[in-house]
Amino acid sequence: MENKKFYITTPIYYPSDKLHIGHTYCTVATDAIARFKRLQGCDVMFLTGTDEHGQKIEDKATEAGVTPQQFVDNIVLGERGVKDLWKLMNISNDRFIRTTDDYHVAAIQKIFKKMYENGDIYKGKYTGKYCKPCESFWTESQLVDGKCPDCGREVSDAEEEAYFFRLSKYADRIRDLLENTDFLEPRSRVNEMVNNFIKPGLEDLCVSRTSFTWGVPVDFDPGHVVYVWIDALSNYITALGYENDKYDDYKEFWPADVHIVGKEIVRFHSIIWPAMLMSMGEPLPKKVYGHGWLLLDGGKMSKSKGNVVDPYILAEKFGVDALRFFLLRTFPFGSDGNFSNELLIKTINTDLANDLGNLVSRTTAMSQKYFESTLGEGGQWAELDDELKSLAADVVANYTKHMESYQLHLALAEAFRLIGRANKYIDETAPWVLAKDEASKPRLLSVMKNLCEAIRISAILVSPFMPASSEAILNQLGVEETLRKWENLSFRCSCECCWKSSTAAPLFPRIDVEKALAELEEAAEAARKAALPALEIEPFTEENVDFETFCKSDFRVVKVLACENVKKSEKLLKFTLDDGSGQPRQILSGIAKFYKSEELIGKTLVAIINLPPRKMMGQASCGMLISAVHTERGEEKLKLLMLDDSIPAGAKLC
Ligand code: MSP
Repeated sequence: MENKKFYITTPIYYPSDKLHIGHTYCTVATDAIARFKRLQGCDVMFLTGTDEHGQKIEDKATEAGVTPQQFVDNIVLGERGVKDLWKLMNISNDRFIRTTDDYHVAAIQKIFKKMYENGDIYKGKYTGKYCKPCESFWTESQLVDGKCPDCGREVSDAEEEAYFFRLSKYADRIRDLLENTDFLEPRSRVNEMVNNFIKPGLEDLCVSRTSFTWGVPVDFDPGHVVYVWIDALSNYITALGYENDKYDDYKEFWPADVHIVGKEIVRFHSIIWPAMLMSMGEPLPKKVYGHGWLLLDGGKMSKSKGNVVDPYILAEKFGVDALRFFLLRTFPFGSDGNFSNELLIKTINTDLANDLGNLVSRTTAMSQKYFESTLGEGGQWAELDDELKSLAADVVANYTKHMESYQLHLALAEAFRLIGRANKYIDETAPWVLAKDEASKPRLLSVMKNLCEAIRISAILVSPFMPASSEAILNQLGVEETLRKWENLSFRCSCECCWKSSTAAPLFPRIDVEKALAELEEAAEAARKAALPALEIEPFTEENVDFETFCKSDFRVVKVLACENVKKSEKLLKFTLDDGSGQPRQILSGIAKFYKSEELIGKTLVAIINLPPRKMMGQASCGMLISAVHTERGEEKLKLLMLDDSIPAGAKLC
């Protein structure tokens, strides 16, 4: 029999910045579902990719002084870019689409034309606000205090010629789809869509722009580029070969079984996308699942707020599987969740180091100690084992139900119910007591085999979430290939199976919470610094100073006779200077954080000496030393102006 087809997608990501843990969450979740479906024997197509057009990318590229294509290539293909991240996170996508791929661009032109020719796209006028100096169109909501968000100048009412999609025509069919089918889940998202968008009335959608060029050109009307969401949503079918010859899987895999998307883009996927497909006369995807956000300190992560969490740092520090596991075990998939490093470490220590890791290491160590790692034929089944066996069956049934309804956290909780029960089984059966009595050997043998069996089943259940660790556990237990399969998940009687296991270093070492938190803080600080401008200098003074005023400033060469820290002050250094007058001059300067007092003695510096004397910390300061200041990655830098020592004290600077 042919395997059931299963087509699953992630949103395609904006490569306007490096991806953060929120994007990783979405992709890891989709990957776990795809792996689960493969485990069940489905023929899976898992698509991800990047959404590379639009004004934002064009602007960022201009800012960076590169072409938009170079800009996106760097974020998608460059070091620690999108593709690198998915490789690191062990994402098993079958295909990766970029909306700048030639086949996709050509297909979008055909799709746009198709909808134009069937009367669903028409030419109209887009009204908005226009900033003349910037030559930019803005919507009312984009304005800042009613002014241009770029230059802050006044804007005027304006009209731009644009194409519109007859979204309004599909309002009733979309409402029916949302309210009367399981198309959109979780159900709470249906109410959001109907109340916020459908009930107020669906308006036709502006689907072309003329104010920028980085997009798919409308081939029959030069100057217009296709609206980025029409371009992006269509990726789900162009990647299968729709309107192109690059691939030929459309018939086999469309309609998609599920589009996994974040809650803020549910509107595009559950209203605009089905309307587009209705217009094209194509079948609708079977489901859109809108997951929640990972929040940081209660707010959405965003690069502009500077509160993004870097998945590379976490994966490198705690392991890819531990990070994947944490994301999917901790937060209910359909709701928002608060990310924190403490929670991450606690989850790894509790579930992975204590529960799963300990179960595996205790079992393999005891198996080695009592049976030299070989659990041969025989054994003695007891009543307690029936309970473990039936719990395992219950766990598998619940796990399956939860995975099929994308309740990933509940599915994992089930797997951990079995792991917890197996740990308790060790305490109840006390193998170390059984080992003392030769007559208990058959019972001990069964106990060890039952533990191996519980671990085998648990390892298979966690495999979509932690593929590498699951494989390592199954290898450690010496489980043959067929017994790693979905159809062999039932608990076998210990008397009828044999095992040959091995011991290994702990899979999930316990993490020292304090130390790890401090290291993460340090890494985050380094990343914050690296993101700051390399060099910042004071803005130039716009106001002119007349020559006569300038000449009144008396700059002199001075030699440092003595220098010491001012008592009780962290900032001030006290200088005794030779200014050529024959009388020592005292100047106080707030530069203690940049210099040690002793290193300045004997140096030739520059001071302005005709500033009015003033008192600082009770001491007189007669003048000011001149230094150069700038900021490097957010850190203030200062260097005193030092001259050639051959210049005599008192020489005037002019
Ligand atoms: N390019 C569009 C999608 C087009 S699909 C045809 C887009 N890209 S995105 O890069 O901004 O976001 C991609 C996905 O990442 C979205 O589903 C979004 O919800 C998800 N996440 C981004 N930040 C997130 C969190 N902090 N938490 C969870 N998911 C979040 O939208």
